[in-house]
Amino acid sequence: MSTSVKEAIAARHSVRAFARQPLSKDEIRELLEAARNAPSSLNSQPWRFKVVTDPEDLAWFGTSDASKKQAWLANAGAIFICCADLEHYVKDSQSAAFFYRSNNILQGEPLKGVEAYVQKAADDDEAAKFGACAMNVSIAVSFMMLRAVELGLGTCWVGMFNEANVKARFGLPMGCRVVNILAAGRPDEATVFPRKRKSLEEIVIAD
Ligand SMILES: Cc1cc2nc3c(=O)[nH]c(=O)nc-3n(C[C@H](O)[C@H](O)[C@H](O)COP(=O)(O)O)c2cc1C
Repeated sequence: MSTSVKEAIAARHSVRAFARQPLSKDEIRELLEAARNAPSSLNSQPWRFKVVTDPEDLAWFGTSDASKKQAWLANAGAIFICCADLEHYVKDSQSAAFFYRSNNILQGEPLKGVEAYVQKAADDDEAAKFGACAMNVSIAVSFMMLRAVELGLGTCWVGMFNEANVKARFGLPMGCRVVNILAAGRPDEATVFPRKRKSLEEIVIAD
C-alpha cells in the first residue's frame, strides 16, 4: 500500500538514530529525483547535491567540529550536502526570462516584473543571492524528506555545520554555498523525540 502525502507529512520527524546500513543506489536516486521535481523561482533549479556514502566521510561528520560533533551522523546511510549554485541561479533565471520574452509567454507588466526580478538577482550581493537560492533548495530538500518516508527511510535536516570545513573536505564547486546537510538512513529509534506544534490559532493571522 502506498503512503499518501498526508501520511508522509504526519509520519516525518527528525530521525537521529540510524541502523548503520548504507542507502542503496536506487534509494539515493529516488531522493534526488524528488528534489529534481521541486518548484523553483523562474525554474532556476539552483540546488546541487554532494552525496556522501564513504564510511570514513560519514564518521568524519560524526566526530568533526565541522558538524559540532553530532555523533549520530556517523550512522547515517548517506549524507546529502545540499548546496545552492549562486552563479547558475542568475544565469538560469536570465535564460527563463529570455525564454518568456522570446516566446511571448509573458508580456506587459508581468514580463517587466520578471525582468526586474532577474536584474535584481544579478545585482544582488552574495548574501541576498544566497537567501534567494536557499529558499529554492529548502523546498527541494522538503520533497526529499517526504519521499524518504515513503521509502521507509528517516531523515534529519542539519543546520549546525561549519561551511568552510565541509567545503574544504569535499571540494565543492566554486559558486556553490552549502544550505544544509541532510542525513538519511534506516531508522533505528528507541523512542521518537516528542515535538510540540503551534496550534492553528497561533499560526493563522486573524482578520
Ligand atoms: C533549519 C534547520 C536546522 C536544523 N538543524 C539541526 C541540527 O543541526 N541538528 C539536529 O539534530 N536537528 C536539526 N534540525 C531539526 C529540528 O530540530 C527539527 O526539525 C525540529 O525540532 C522539529 O522536529 P521534527 O523535525 O521531528 O518535526 C534542524 C531543522 C531545521 C529546519
